[in-house]
Order: sequence, then structure tokens, then C-alpha cells
Amino acid sequence: METKIASPAGAWLALAKKLIETGEVVAFHTETVYGLGANAFSDEAVLKVFALKGRPADNPLIVHVHQDFPISSLIDGEPSYAAALREAFLPGPLTMVYPSKGKVSKYVSCGLDTLAVRVPSSPAAQAFLKSADLPVAAPSANLSKHVSPVTAKHVFDDFNGKIPLILDGGACTGGIESTVLDCTGEIPQILREGLVTREMIARVAGRCEVYRAKRGERPKSPGMAYKHYAPRCKTAYFTGDRLGEAEAAYLNEAEGGGAPCFLCESEVCARLEGYRSLDLGSSPEEAARRLYALLRRGEEQATLLIGVEPREKEGVMAGVLNRMRRAFGVEHGTEEG
Ligand code: TXA
Ligand code: MG
Repeated sequence: METKIASPAGAWLALAKKLIETGEVVAFHTETVYGLGANAFSDEAVLKVFALKGRPADNPLIVHVHQDFPISSLIDGEPSYAAALREAFLPGPLTMVYPSKGKVSKYVSCGLDTLAVRVPSSPAAQAFLKSADLPVAAPSANLSKHVSPVTAKHVFDDFNGKIPLILDGGACTGGIESTVLDCTGEIPQILREGLVTREMIARVAGRCEVYRAKRGERPKSPGMAYKHYAPRCKTAYFTGDRLGEAEAAYLNEAEGGGAPCFLCESEVCARLEGYRSLDLGSSPEEAARRLYALLRRGEEQATLLIGVEPREKEGVMAGVLNRMRRAFGVEHGTEEG
């Protein structure tokens, strides 16, 4: 199959609509990362997404809809704080988990009685979803465990020859996946941190918790149990106060004939003058926007990628840190407790 990369306009949108309606898979731009979309009403189409990604069968998908889609047709009621959060943050990088009406394929939620719903804000995503005009189940458009895609080229690298169409909306400005928020309880609970932070949610909803799975417990957001975002090269990871050890690891790799490279904030890059480094920038937003593209560049250019943990830990950086630690194998969900 030939994989076309096209702009989300005109005849390409009509083709995307047709492909979705006939059970095919279409990759599309969002403000966070690219998605691999399928008709959420079709068992066959949804199963195709799992097969293409090599995704574990117990890791549910998010349903994407345009901003005028009647979400109430899919979900079984919502607490008042959820209505306020929708008003404040949608369309945008916030996924809300609701009790499901069971209208979409059972494979979307992998047997859970909840449904994750997202209204992405990127004009490219809105154009695609308006044209399809049905709920589109979509995980990030990367092979399972690989780094999430933030350009059409990244999607092409993982799925060339396997999907018919990639709708190219340019580079993603957000850069890390949406915040996943459980809205089934009395207090909203963050299952996956992202660009809509705990502080931002608490300001609107009054309260907000960050869910942490206990040792041995099946996590509420099954995806968080898996190793994720991993670049395909050797990796090492150091906190900022262990820069000496990081340098030793670099020199050791270089002496062995390898090509080491650091991944760190601008300030640390400057201190590591003379070494090869990939620059995460100097703000949490910049780090979020750059992280996945740099992990993909790192795996292409380096034999050993050495991450240095950013100093800031709160707000948007909490989401970036979660991805970084998992990319570098320091933390993967509940597997290490
Ligand atoms: O920004 C994003 O959210 C991107 C773009 C494409 O929209 N999508 C994305 O999808 O990151 P994915 O499949 O890579 O991650 C979905 C996450 C997983 O951690 C999954 O376990 C969780 O959402 N999830 C989906 N449905 C859920 C549900 N009913 N209850 C709890 N967690 C759910
Ligand atoms: Mg993903």
C-alpha cells in the first residue's frame, strides 16, 4: 500500500472521510502528537489500529470528536466540575474519562465501562473530525513502545506502506500527549499528566488529585503500566547533580568508538561545552515541544543517549518528566512499583 502524506484540506479531507467510513485507518495532526484514527463504531476498524501498532489488547483508546459533536450521546452523565472543565479547556489537550453509554465498539475501552473523550484544538484535527463527523478512536501514531510522533515524517517512518493516508498539519506545538483526567468520581483525578496541569484543573474544579497506582495494583489508566516512548539506542539517565557521572558515561562510550550524545536543558548544554548535545530549551513548554523530536533524532544519530533530568518538577514539567523517565527506562508505570 502506498502511504500518502497530504494537507488536511479539499479532496484529501473527502478521501479521509471515505477511508474512515470504510473502516480504514488515517493518521492525523493534533496539537499534542499525531493520532492513528479509526471509526470508533466499527469493531474491525478499531482492531486494525491495535494490530498496526502492536498495541496490547488491554490498553484502551481515546475517542476524538470535533467541537460541535454531541458528547452526551456517548457518555452517561457528568459531574458539574466536568462541565466547567470542558468549558475552560476544550477544545484542547485534555482527555476526559466518563461513564460510557456503550455506543462505540467495545474494543475502544477494552472492556472498561468508561470512555475517554478528547476534543483536540488544532485546526487540522478539527477539519478532519468535522469531515468524518463520527467519533474517531485514536492512539498516538507510533509503533507500540516507540517514541510518539510530532511530525508527519515520524508517522511515515513507523507506518510507511501500512496505512493509506497521513494528514499533515505540520509540527505539533504541544509535543506531549494530552492530560488524561478521570471524571467518574467526586474529585477529578489525573491519570496521565500533560499540558493541562493539576494546578490549572484545581483552579477550575476546586480540587484535583494525581493518581498513582499502588504496587501490584492494575493502574486506572492501563497505558501507564507499559514501557513507553523508548528511543532505539542505548540510554543512560542522570539527575542534574550527577553531571560528573554523566560526563564519565559519555567519555566511556566515546573511547569505545561509540557516538554518545546528551539530552538536556539549554543551561546544562552550555555547561557541557565541547560535548555533543540535544537542547530541550529553557522552559517547560519548550521541553514538551522538543522532547519527542529530539528522542527520535537521538536514536538516529547516537549510540548512547544520555538524559539529564530538568531541575523544575512541577506544572507542565511534571508531564515532561514522566515521559523522560519512561523513555530512559527509569520509570515504567507499576512494573517497578
Ligand atoms: O494527546 C493525546 O492524547 C494523543 C492524541 C493522538 O490525541 N493520544 C494518545 O493516545 O496519547 P494513547 O493511546 O497513546 O494514550 C491513551 C491513554 C492511555 O494511557 C490509555 O490507557 C488511557 O489514555 N485511556 C484510554 N481510555 C481510557 C479509559 N477508559 N480509562 C482510563 N484510561 C484510558
Ligand atoms: Mg501513546
